[in-house]
Amino acid sequence: ATVLKEAFKDKFYIGTALNLDQIWERNATAVGVVKEQFNAIVAENCMKSMYLQPREGEFYFKDADKFVEFGEKNNMHMVGHTLIWHSQAPNWFFTDRQGKEVSRDVLIERMRQHITTVVSRYKGRIKGWDVVNEAILDNGEWRDSKFYKIIGKDFIKLAFEFAHAADPDAELYYNDYSTAVPDKREGIANMVSDLIAQGVRVNGIGMQEHHQLDNPSVQEVEKTILAFSNLGVSVMVTEMDITVLPSPRRNIGAEISENFTYDKEMNPFPDGLPAEKVRQLNGRYVDFFRLYLKHQDKISRVTVWGVGDGDSWRNGWPMRGRTDYPLLFDREYKPKSIVAELIKMAQRN
Ligand code: G3I
Repeated sequence: ATVLKEAFKDKFYIGTALNLDQIWERNATAVGVVKEQFNAIVAENCMKSMYLQPREGEFYFKDADKFVEFGEKNNMHMVGHTLIWHSQAPNWFFTDRQGKEVSRDVLIERMRQHITTVVSRYKGRIKGWDVVNEAILDNGEWRDSKFYKIIGKDFIKLAFEFAHAADPDAELYYNDYSTAVPDKREGIANMVSDLIAQGVRVNGIGMQEHHQLDNPSVQEVEKTILAFSNLGVSVMVTEMDITVLPSPRRNIGAEISENFTYDKEMNPFPDGLPAEKVRQLNGRYVDFFRLYLKHQDKISRVTVWGVGDGDSWRNGWPMRGRTDYPLLFDREYKPKSIVAELIKMAQRN
């Protein structure tokens, strides 16, 4: 095999997130890579609730429709991202016309409307949904989001039930980041096992896998794969990337808005990645993919969060204008050396 999707064919789906340029096929080179290398796709942004339902009852489906059309035309496994997420949810969701916080019943009804409308529109076409995204904190406790505050823990159960009712054949996932942090792993496992005990259909847990060069350790990620798969659900790598840049200090947000000076410290490689860093980055990809291949019976999909390095959200976080190298293809959509290595590895395993 000379392309990823061929090499990993009998292992797991190999996917990528698509931005609007790619969904609308505005960049032929990027789209060429998507069609040639990947057999699973997810929309990076356009299926989040603030885009799909910017105002109550007013749905905007043009981009999402195009995404689904693209996936069907190219025979791809499609995942919907994401139905219920505290971030990127429109403000109207939580407030009434006077700007007062809505009651529990109203919020549940809005959740039901949103989920039912979106999931039924793509019934039988979108294979699986990230039903709830990022509801547990790194310390294992529940995130104090509006959904949690107004509805309580049951918001997750309800979201899964609404999605299941709208498309009984769709797979339903819980998705989160930093799942290798022990307390968080445990919090998620407890939450999902509660859902299952209540008879809620949960098909999989997504580990986002936004990694750094030195964190998390492969051992901790392995513990998470085992812990999640022990619940009887499939495990997915849903948003993989590996940043080579230093992590921001805390409170960087305040610094940016006031007198943040953009220094070399936060963007050390504007003109290309030094060989030593390339080596480290490749080593990390190899280590993680070796782990995923080892557990290929438990892992149904590995998706990277973007096609080329230039597409990555990492370049814009926590401030714009950084130059990161977190993905498998470079800024010109040429495969990096790691792609050939992963292909060889898949063939040996
Ligand atoms: O499209 C507008 C553009 O019109 C406007 O000029 C520009 C200026 O602010 O913003 C553009 O929207 C941005 C959007 O990405 C599309 O590029 C938003 O500001 C920006 O906040 C948004 O960031 C996305 C982020 O989620 C927040 O939704 C990233 O692209 C996306 O990669 C990231 O993905 C998340 C997953 O959904 C969940 N897990 C974590 C992951 C990384 O943060």
